[in-house]
Amino acid sequence: MRKMKFTMLKLVVVLLLAGIIPSYAQQNNYITTGFGAPVSYKDASLTIGRRGPLLLEDTEFIDEMAHFDRERIPERVVHAKGAGAFGYFEVTNDITRYCAASVFSTVGKRTKIAVRFSVAGGERGSADTRRSSRGFAIKFYTEEGNWDLVGSNFPIFAIRDPILTPSMIHAQKRHPATFLPNSDMQWDFFTSRPETTYLLLYTFSDKGTPDGYRFMDGFGVNTFKLINASGHHVYSKFHYLSDQGLRNLTARRAQELTAEDPEYAIRDLYNAIGSSNYPSWTLYIQVMTDEQARNSSFNPFDATKIWPEDIYPLIQVGRLTLNENPTNFFQDVEQMALSPSNLVPGIKPSPDRILQGRLFSYPDTQRYRLGPNFLQIPVNCPLNVRNYQRDGPMSYNNQGNNTVYHPNSVDSLNVSQRAAALSPPYS
Ligand code: HEM
Repeated sequence: MRKMKFTMLKLVVVLLLAGIIPSYAQQNNYITTGFGAPVSYKDASLTIGRRGPLLLEDTEFIDEMAHFDRERIPERVVHAKGAGAFGYFEVTNDITRYCAASVFSTVGKRTKIAVRFSVAGGERGSADTRRSSRGFAIKFYTEEGNWDLVGSNFPIFAIRDPILTPSMIHAQKRHPATFLPNSDMQWDFFTSRPETTYLLLYTFSDKGTPDGYRFMDGFGVNTFKLINASGHHVYSKFHYLSDQGLRNLTARRAQELTAEDPEYAIRDLYNAIGSSNYPSWTLYIQVMTDEQARNSSFNPFDATKIWPEDIYPLIQVGRLTLNENPTNFFQDVEQMALSPSNLVPGIKPSPDRILQGRLFSYPDTQRYRLGPNFLQIPVNCPLNVRNYQRDGPMSYNNQGNNTVYHPNSVDSLNVSQRAAALSPPYS
């Protein structure tokens, strides 16, 4: 069969050489199998005669088909549909009296960031304009590890105890019998939990349908603990406010776009960055001392509450700018693993129970969604890693012949005194 196609092959080679057919192999100008061998023919399987069955020895076919059969990975259990971009964070104001994290060390310092925006509800194929809160998650590649700020365009969360999260999400997904979205389940849950009211008001305001991702603010929502070089801490909330201003869609326009352009928000972000119209956000913190927290009339660790800005004013920190589109969406965005548990010296969790639940949930799902070595995927890989974790599926950086156990008398590694000084016990 292949011989019979020889003339066609010659034609293809001529067209390839003439540059009329694009070549997909980057370096050698020919297609290869997954194991790198040049492919001899790409348009038909190896068969027994003109009408006969396929041959098991056609390893090129098997290589192609077996990979195709494994192309899908699980979508995120929430925030499944999203868009991503890269850029940098620049410090514009000194906050070292509150926080010793290296990312804030000097005014003017720049740190590379990766950002993923998302629609909290809905599935990987659903419309960008769906009514829902939006995710706004940032990975800072600092020299002391990756710090992730996994936030939302709403400043509050619906509930205050993480044990209710799976039920809250189930109530908003499809009915187990009909596979249809079911408002009864949703309203049954929400009306049973009065603390969800604030989030519902946000969801059913125009902020529930922002105009893409560039014209919305971001909030860390949870309360964190910031520690300075003397080991003193304050509690803090993060705000990142859009320099483009705020723009929302009306309910009618959002509905129209759901039919006309369900990829509206991804397209808008990609085109803006592609045409050098780089979006940016100004990062602020609110701070609360231990004493203020103790005397506060509301629980500052309750994620359904905002901190009044007249008592806890916004303090400017820096600017986030997105100036680079992903070159491969699956590689850079679908495989991005953001987690509130990715904290660095100077930034610690507070007793916020929603945050505490999240610290477990994200890396747990990522081990399932991407595999136990998900931190070795380039987009998730920190600038420096040196530890005793080894092996497991798809280990890409197995740390060579370095020592594999601790304590040992071989390597000269020690714990970081700085990290120890920046980790005071809970008070
Ligand atoms: C106990 C409460 C919560 C639980 C258990 C939870 C759990 C999860 C899980 C399992 C994922 C998927 C992660 C992945 O597959 O990579 C996720 C994604 C996400 N969550 Fe939460 N979540 C909670 C609360 C929140 C809150 C309060 C916010 C907002 C501050 C938030 C914002 C996000 C965002 C932005 C994403 C998408 C991250 C990305 O772009 O990859 N979540 N959440």
